[in-house]
Amino acid sequence: MFSQETESKFKHLASIYPRKRSALIPMLLIAQKEHGYVKSETIEYVAKYLDLSASEVDSIMSFYTLLHRNPVGKYHIMICTNLACMLRGSDEIETCVQRKLGVRPGEITADGLFSAIEFECLGSCTTAPVMQVNGEFYENLDVKKVEEIIDGFRKRA
Ligand code: FES
Repeated sequence: MFSQETESKFKHLASIYPRKRSALIPMLLIAQKEHGYVKSETIEYVAKYLDLSASEVDSIMSFYTLLHRNPVGKYHIMICTNLACMLRGSDEIETCVQRKLGVRPGEITADGLFSAIEFECLGSCTTAPVMQVNGEFYENLDVKKVEEIIDGFRKRA
C-alpha cells in the first residue's frame, strides 16, 4: 500500500512517542504526501497500525483541514479568509483565483493542476492577505501577484 520509505517512516514514528497514537497526524501527513490525499483504506491501515479504530482516525481527520479526504490538484491553493486577510482584501484574492482557474472552492481544474479552498487563518496575519500553495506561503498579496503566481505554476507544469 505504501512505499518502503513511507513504511520505514511509519515504523520510526510509531516507535518515538510514549503513546503510539501520538504518531497519528504525522503518519497521515506522510501517507497523504505519497497518495495526494488520505484514502479510506489509509484510514483503516493507520488505525490498525496505531491500535485505534477507523472511526477515531476519521473523527480526528475531520478536525484538520490540512488532511485531504479527496484528491486535490497538483498545486493546492489555500486562501485565508479570516479577519486580518478579509480586511486586507482576501475577497479579491479569492475572486482572482476562481477567475484564473475557472473553479469554485473545493473543485479541481479539469487538467488536475489546481485546486483551491478557503482556509481559516494561516497564522501569518501580519502579512495579510495570505495564501499557501502546497504548504508554501505567499504573503502581502494583491491581484497582480496572485495572477503571476498562478501563471508561474502553469509554466512549470
Ligand atoms: S487572518 Fe489570514 S493569516 Fe491570519
